[in-house]
Amino acid sequence: MPLTFLPPVPPSAPAPNRGPDDYLTMQQVTEEIAFERDGWGAERRHKVTELFDALAPEWHTRGGEDRLRPTRDALARGGVPDGGLAVEIGSGTGIQTQPLLEKFEHVVSVDLSAGMLSLAPRRERVSLMRADACELPLSPGSADAIVCVNAYLFPTEYARVLRPHGRVVFVSTSGAQTPIYLPPEKVVSAVENVFGEVHAISSAYEWSVWTIVTRSA
Ligand SMILES: C[S@@+](CC[C@H](N)C(=O)[O-])C[C@H]1O[C@@H](n2cnc3c(N)ncnc32)[C@H](O)[C@@H]1O
Repeated sequence: MPLTFLPPVPPSAPAPNRGPDDYLTMQQVTEEIAFERDGWGAERRHKVTELFDALAPEWHTRGGEDRLRPTRDALARGGVPDGGLAVEIGSGTGIQTQPLLEKFEHVVSVDLSAGMLSLAPRRERVSLMRADACELPLSPGSADAIVCVNAYLFPTEYARVLRPHGRVVFVSTSGAQTPIYLPPEKVVSAVENVFGEVHAISSAYEWSVWTIVTRSA
């Protein structure tokens, strides 16, 4: 597998204190979406929308500078070029948009949940879009990067929208305790299944894990 691991940035704080009940079911869903043809459908879309609409009012409590550092680390040490268009998948209330604005010229922040999007700030250089990431209203080859911070991987749709040599950036802010999580090898394998030739780089930043897959052509 064309995957290189960079040295981790060691944790300076205790590990997130979650039990398997907090994340295992969602991790299974994340894997089905990434690998199975029928992993995503109308019923699951409905349930996921309801879940995140309900979580929207308190989602801002998960923000803060500490939670942005893994994304900044991924974009910097992962060698993502400056400029261009990033599509932020599952952008929620926009608490992860700032590091993307520091790197890219324009960010399209996409979310399924109207509740989440209604609480996202309106910012220059950011377009908010209510859409399903499995069917993005974007042109083929239009994105320089698809960024998933704690968000699902839909490899077929990302392959359609990403330009040649573009990146898929996958960040899990609580590492293997993140509910929407795939280990680096699975991120690469899910993308490679659809994209063909790729190379990838991964690292840990404190308790978070990130993986960046670059398509070859
Ligand atoms: C765990 S939250 C992450 C929010 C934000 N990225 C963060 O880290 O704070 C996942 C987000 O993905 C959105 N989402 C789930 N499935 C989606 C889909 N198929 N298309 C677009 N957004 C989706 C949810 O509504 C939710 O806002």
